[in-house]
Amino acid sequence: MRLVKLVMLLVFAVALVSPFAFTRSAEGAGATEAPADFDAFHSNGLTDDNTFVNVDEANFNEVEDTTKGLGPTYNAQSCRECHQNPISGGISQITELRCGHEDGNGNFVAPTIFINDGANSIPNRSLVNDRAICPGIVTDPNGVQHNFLQTNIQERVPGSENIRTFRTSLNVLGDGFVESIDSNTLVAIANNEFNQTGGAINPLIIQVPVLEAPGQVRVGRFGWKNQLASLLSFSSDAYLNEMGISNPLNPTDFTTVCKVTTDPEDTVDSTGLADIDRFARFMRATKAPSRDLALAATSDAQAGQQIFNSIGCAICHVTSITTAPAGTVINGGKFTVPAALGNKIIHPFGDFLLHNIGTSDDITQNSNVNADFMRTAPLWGVRTRDRLMHDGESLTRNDAILRHAGEATFVINNYINLSTNQKNQLITFINSL
Ligand code: HEC
Ligand code: HEC
Repeated sequence: MRLVKLVMLLVFAVALVSPFAFTRSAEGAGATEAPADFDAFHSNGLTDDNTFVNVDEANFNEVEDTTKGLGPTYNAQSCRECHQNPISGGISQITELRCGHEDGNGNFVAPTIFINDGANSIPNRSLVNDRAICPGIVTDPNGVQHNFLQTNIQERVPGSENIRTFRTSLNVLGDGFVESIDSNTLVAIANNEFNQTGGAINPLIIQVPVLEAPGQVRVGRFGWKNQLASLLSFSSDAYLNEMGISNPLNPTDFTTVCKVTTDPEDTVDSTGLADIDRFARFMRATKAPSRDLALAATSDAQAGQQIFNSIGCAICHVTSITTAPAGTVINGGKFTVPAALGNKIIHPFGDFLLHNIGTSDDITQNSNVNADFMRTAPLWGVRTRDRLMHDGESLTRNDAILRHAGEATFVINNYINLSTNQKNQLITFINSL
């Protein structure tokens, strides 16, 4: 009886898989579409809308200052400053600066950056913060006055660091669904890409630390290098690295120069949560980016989608992925996939895997082997992006496509051989995402 049921389920699941869509799902039957909209007012069902808007999104939007722990070195005052287009959680034109060099064996080495006229240094960090505090004369939270008038701790790229890159801000909308993808589903997608292309496309999977579960690792999926796997980990990492706010999972600032607060600056409050918990809950509660439905309905966009599938773009820019069932325990035991995120079909037009398409910035993060690889840019919501690729240096869709080489060479050759009309249809499709 159980066996018959299982076989029927399998037949049903196979029938759902279209040969062109590269649909991958661990569970298949019973999965429903994830809610998709650029909606700043309603959650995807994970939290009630009041919590979503007035507690979690408000926290994501909150502008921090020196007395709240901003800096000493930092990039911006609020998560929203870099994640906002067209609503909080989207992308932005803001880029970040990273640098480093290679040792004699060709391995990436993160720099030591001297600050405060050489009196202090920040070692072993490829990120170069674009801003710094040292706000003149300031009173700390205990009422003590400090004079920072002559202090300068702005970070700069040392001349020795010949690897330099910008990284564009990423979309976080819908990332709760991405977090809820079973690691084995990502491995299955990788194997399928390898097998269907005879190994020409050979994605890299890395296991990265889950900060909230010390000692535990998980298949990385967030950031241009897949350097993290959980949204709580990313919240903690971003709060420290982007805003200079130390927190329960990253309790120490990079320098004490010009500091008027005590580490950790973000702590659990009377509601039982720290800011990083609310950031993670906000991102988990967002809907997925939605299509431009008017453009998507045009015959050009539809023809473009067929071309996207048939020439091989969809091998890496995967059309559909199904999340793990509700109740699945992930993130090293620290998160259980809730009903709002479980067994949901998303259309990320990405595989959340690392590829060598010849564009990499040669930097490693949370891995010794991801120097030559970048994560496939998920194309959901890409119509909100005017500067493309990790460095934002491709300013047209055509330029971005033509930069793909390496593993993507045979697909890009297919693109080059399209007629002008077909290329335009493909780009119309991309503009509908
Ligand atoms: C100065 C700009 C800036 C600020 C401020 C900022 N971010 Fe980001 N964020 C970025 C950039 C750039 C990336 C891509 C980083 C990379 O991989 O190199 C990113 C990536 C992310 C990602 C990964 C998304 C994905 O799908 O891979 C998450 C999650 C995230 N940020 C959350 C946050 C949170 C939460 C805050 C506030 C605590 C925050 N960010 C503050 C610029 C910023
Ligand atoms: C081998 C996997 C692979 C294939 C095949 C592939 N891509 Fe990509 N794509 C990537 C990766 C990886 C990136 C990010 C590269 C970077 O930023 O350095 C990317 C980035 C992009 C971007 C930039 C998006 C953004 O937000 O910046 C566009 C647009 C794009 N691809 C379209 C296409 C199209 C159209 C095709 C088919 C002609 C295609 N890709 C085929 C892996 C692939």
